[in-house]
Amino acid sequence: MSTPTLEAPPASLSLRNVGKTYRIDGQDLPVLQRIGLDITRGEFIGIVGASGCGKSTLLRLIAGLDHRFDGEILIEGHPVAGPGVERSLVFQDHRLFPWLSVTDNIALGLDSLALGRHERQARIQEQLELVGLTGFAQAYPHQLSGGMAQRAAIARALVSRPDILLMDEPFGALDSITRAHMQEELLRIWRERRVTVVIVTHDVDEAVFLGDRVAVMEPRPGRLQSVIGVDLPRPRLRTDAAFNQVKQRVLAQLKR
Ligand SMILES: Nc1ncnc2c1ncn2[C@@H]1O[C@H](COP(=O)(O)OP(=O)(O)OP(=O)(O)O)[C@@H](O)[C@H]1O
Ligand SMILES: [Mg+2]
Repeated sequence: MSTPTLEAPPASLSLRNVGKTYRIDGQDLPVLQRIGLDITRGEFIGIVGASGCGKSTLLRLIAGLDHRFDGEILIEGHPVAGPGVERSLVFQDHRLFPWLSVTDNIALGLDSLALGRHERQARIQEQLELVGLTGFAQAYPHQLSGGMAQRAAIARALVSRPDILLMDEPFGALDSITRAHMQEELLRIWRERRVTVVIVTHDVDEAVFLGDRVAVMEPRPGRLQSVIGVDLPRPRLRTDAAFNQVKQRVLAQLKR
């Protein structure tokens, strides 16, 4: 039996003293150091920081794609041990398979779940509706615009009904108008699915527009410099003085 979408509680995520060191040519390269952050169920967190400060590395650790790290990453109090269906990762490039239709690409997100044919179809249909791609179910990636392809990638990430959605600069390749539209769409999906979201972005404006809090990282090695609460009601207006005040606070932290 399937669980109704709105009853599935999103998960909490705790980073405790997380560190990561890569070894390159026999040299240790510390990339992440003492990252500590408690993210509550259903929270929307933005992570900003200079290129190379370890944002993608951190998301990979949370996704369970790399188990060699220090400290602890806990989901609902349980340490992550590898990838799991309760977490999904969306990348900057859509990473759809060009030889598969939108439907078949989304279906890949169900591969690790034992579902009957009807349940699979229902889930895919639900996702197509959620991201507004019902008319493109049988289209191939090359027939989609950049924004549509990214929506298909988000649908593939959500079809398994994860509690935690991890996004690594998901809108980085989009033009500014499509990007603003996708941000609104993401907020709608977040509200409807009540998922916990961690989004990495280069764009301070995007982080402040979306996040309940914005975590600012500093580089070499990557550390959490500060976490700034965005205490602004949604929908947020970019032209608001209060919005710009928060933005300036984040920018000031980044420049330090
Ligand atoms: N597989 C790897 N092996 C060795 N070093 C790596 C590996 N992956 C990343 N690094 C190093 O770790 C550091 C952090 O990389 P990461 O990709 O996490 O940064 P980032 O904050 O996501 O940067 P960007 O904003 O440019 O995407 C960099 O110095 C990079 O060279
Ligand atoms: Mg990155």
